[in-house]
Amino acid sequence: MGVSGPVSTSRCDAERTGASVASVTFKANRLLKRDTTVEARSGESLQAVAMRRGLPIGDACGGNAACSTCHCYVIEGDDGLSELAESEDLALDKARQVRMESRLACQARITKRDADLVVVVSDEGLLAFEREHAE
Ligand code: FES
Repeated sequence: MGVSGPVSTSRCDAERTGASVASVTFKANRLLKRDTTVEARSGESLQAVAMRRGLPIGDACGGNAACSTCHCYVIEGDDGLSELAESEDLALDKARQVRMESRLACQARITKRDADLVVVVSDEGLLAFEREHAE
């Protein structure tokens, strides 16, 4: 199973209106052939951004900080995200291979209108996606 989408989205509307927009680049992985940049709105979770474009990431608990299948690593731009809440921190205890950059994509929300983030979906998140979308 693989997902290939457009490499980037258009910023034409934002450029026309002069509005700044956030962007999230999801790094290529075994299910996503290329780095894929998605335009995002302030307040959106990283998971919502990924799912809006059909990018592979787990969602076992429906975005309720109860499973850790949306575990990802924010390798750039984390200052454009909401702070780690206690509930997210507790849920991350269930995740594998937790690092300093670890976040739950369902809980990490974009707070900066011109945030420029780079995200790596964890192996756990990819495996969960495969299980959730097995035919
Ligand atoms: S989808 Fe379950 S913790 Fe994010």
